[in-house]
Amino acid sequence: MRRKLVVGNWKMNGNLAQNEQLLRTLVNDLQGVDHADFAVCVPYPYLFQAQQLLQGSNIAWGAQNVATQESGAHTGEVSAQMLKEFGASYVIVGHSERSNAYCESDANIADKFAIAKQHGITPIFCVGETLQERESGVMEYAIANQLDAVLSVSGGALLDHAVIAYEPVWAIGTNKTATPEQARAAHSFIRERVAALHPGAAETVRILYGGSVNPRNAAQLLSMPDIDGGLIGRCSLDAADFERICRAACGI
Ligand code: 13P
Repeated sequence: MRRKLVVGNWKMNGNLAQNEQLLRTLVNDLQGVDHADFAVCVPYPYLFQAQQLLQGSNIAWGAQNVATQESGAHTGEVSAQMLKEFGASYVIVGHSERSNAYCESDANIADKFAIAKQHGITPIFCVGETLQERESGVMEYAIANQLDAVLSVSGGALLDHAVIAYEPVWAIGTNKTATPEQARAAHSFIRERVAALHPGAAETVRILYGGSVNPRNAAQLLSMPDIDGGLIGRCSLDAADFERICRAACGI
């Protein structure tokens, strides 16, 4: 039985004062809510603050990107070892906002996935189709390509207990959520694809849905078979909204 997981992706938002208020409220309000796992993926400069405020709570923290190299002359990059030093448990890799704007290749994403795993950080590997791909009927082909590029180079062991996020590009930041049935169908497809490549990992990999999740649609989405939680953008910046989504994942 997979535990549900709700992850907030703060993207490039926050400041020290707001973060402190948000995190203190979440720690307080989610105390004792233990039927699911919770995490926030914060901008790099706030990892230390997240570590200070979340240590000892039931909310884990992580980052939104990681370097493919261990160390060295890579200006502007942050290594997995550095994330580890700040207690990061998760790192998002391959988010469409990064792969599009910063030209991340599939090979690059595969390396990020592998290096995170090697350092004991759980990668949250994002896949999802564009509206054009969905409307022209090549959605499964597009998702399969993204999955295969990473999963075929990672051994089955690397996939064990990893996290995949299905984030249809057309649903991110648009208030156009996939219907529970659309999301379920995509998640089943992803799990089947994982099973085809690494049969042992298919049952342990958690597949999150991301794209305009809010407190009103969370319960329905998160109760669908094969949907193991959510990757939450805007609503993770509001303590009350994020808490309600976390509670929805617990069925309360
Ligand atoms: P929104 O929840 O703001 O649509 O963002 C989703 C997302 O990109 C999470 O990674």
